[in-house]
Amino acid sequence: MPDVIIKGGTVVSSTGSSLTDVVIDGERIAALLAPGVADTIGIEPATTIDATGKYVIPGGIDAHTHMEMPFGGTFASDTFETGSRAAAWGGTTTIVDFVVQAHGQRVQDQVARWHEKAAGACAVDYAFHQIIGDVNDESLKAMDELIAEGITSFKLFMAYPGVFLSSDGQIVRAMQTAARNGGLIMMHAENGSAIDVLVQQALARGDTGPYFHGVTRPWQAEQEATHRAVMLADLTGAPLYVVHVSAKQALARIAEARNAGQNVFGETCPQYLYLSLEEQLGARSERWGDFEGAKWVCSTPLRARAEGHQDELWRYIRTGDVTTVSTDHCPFCMKDQKEMGIGDFARIPNGIGSVEHRMDLLFQGVKDGRISLERWVDVCCTTPARMFGLYGRKGVIAPGADADVVVYDPNGHTSIGIGEGRTHHMNMDYSAWQGWEIDGHVDVVLSRGVVIKDETGYVGSKRHGRFVKRELSQNLI
Ligand code: URP
Ligand code: ZN
Ligand code: ZN
Ligand code: ZN
Repeated sequence: MPDVIIKGGTVVSSTGSSLTDVVIDGERIAALLAPGVADTIGIEPATTIDATGKYVIPGGIDAHTHMEMPFGGTFASDTFETGSRAAAWGGTTTIVDFVVQAHGQRVQDQVARWHEKAAGACAVDYAFHQIIGDVNDESLKAMDELIAEGITSFKLFMAYPGVFLSSDGQIVRAMQTAARNGGLIMMHAENGSAIDVLVQQALARGDTGPYFHGVTRPWQAEQEATHRAVMLADLTGAPLYVVHVSAKQALARIAEARNAGQNVFGETCPQYLYLSLEEQLGARSERWGDFEGAKWVCSTPLRARAEGHQDELWRYIRTGDVTTVSTDHCPFCMKDQKEMGIGDFARIPNGIGSVEHRMDLLFQGVKDGRISLERWVDVCCTTPARMFGLYGRKGVIAPGADADVVVYDPNGHTSIGIGEGRTHHMNMDYSAWQGWEIDGHVDVVLSRGVVIKDETGYVGSKRHGRFVKRELSQNLI
């Protein structure tokens, strides 16, 4: 007899939805059955999960997280343990985290460090991308080695001069390597040198609050870098995935490249779909004054609602030019961390924590009629799997796939934030989504056949999550 049956629910895939029972044997999905068939043939597994009236979807894949990431003299406040547990609460069963190689560091030493941090600490399965912060002969050679180790995507930076920024020449060399070995280039596309001048000028004027973080990283700096990345990818033949896109002009450039048949992909994040320069970076509170906006300092920055970026991003999710929605989960507490930037916004650690809320936040797009139910599953689960070489095992409910499954209640309710009756399991002293009332609720989460979250809460184990070796991207043209 199989171990688990999820009965009575509507299985939603990226291509359609139907009433289907899901039979799980061990770590994998064994069969999908039409309603009633399980009773007819007498299947009686040890565990029956009643999903009547609920959606049954593949576990979410958050392809952009930074657990314990070193940044500006501190570390992202979620460890693999706390961050992956929060992911489980929110219906995300795989995270892809970024190994960081900074100047002077050896790539392979850093990979070993990340394996050490994550092993035995994760509630859900995990994989790695590699940040190449120092493109040189040795790191280029490591890119070849990592492909064989299941780390098949490489992030470069056009921002943060003196820290992570690669010159155009370095970018070309890394792209040539990826074009040859089949890896995927991920790009942080902002013109860092131009931004640095604007930042210094703002600080000299006395414009030191968090709002000016957004003002000094204008959309032109994002569009220009995106254009440059697209052109360099074209000339080298490398596939390009532009991370955390927030400017509609950058997405227009990505869409243009895609229309021309180039292997270019866009990622955005919930914060860019919902939040804005005016409302969040410009916020004030009694506790923090105008420093309240530090809660939402991230790069690329939140964009002006008056310029219409948010609506355009939703439209690009519909057209497919936004390929995936990830969180760029990089949390910092206000106390002792964001606070470092009081009086100088350039010292505020960059990042927002949302790994717990991505599935719920994007489901609002379904409720609001912005995207279909199937597109929700596509951008949150299925295409991230294809994009990053996980598809087949992850991102799909099909026989043979890992039994990473979420039972989602479309009529449930979720109160996001810190406080009584609210969800918040990330290691942060504030929520970027405080007070959000969400239609929909993550009821049950299974990872490789094991229930790790049910109606009583988190019931998983930090020893459960495993490193997943990824294939090359399965999403290229
Ligand atoms: O502000 C951000 N995005 N912090 C994380 C690092 C990065 O650039 O993705
Ligand atoms: Zn980035
Ligand atoms: Zn990031
Ligand atoms: Zn519920």
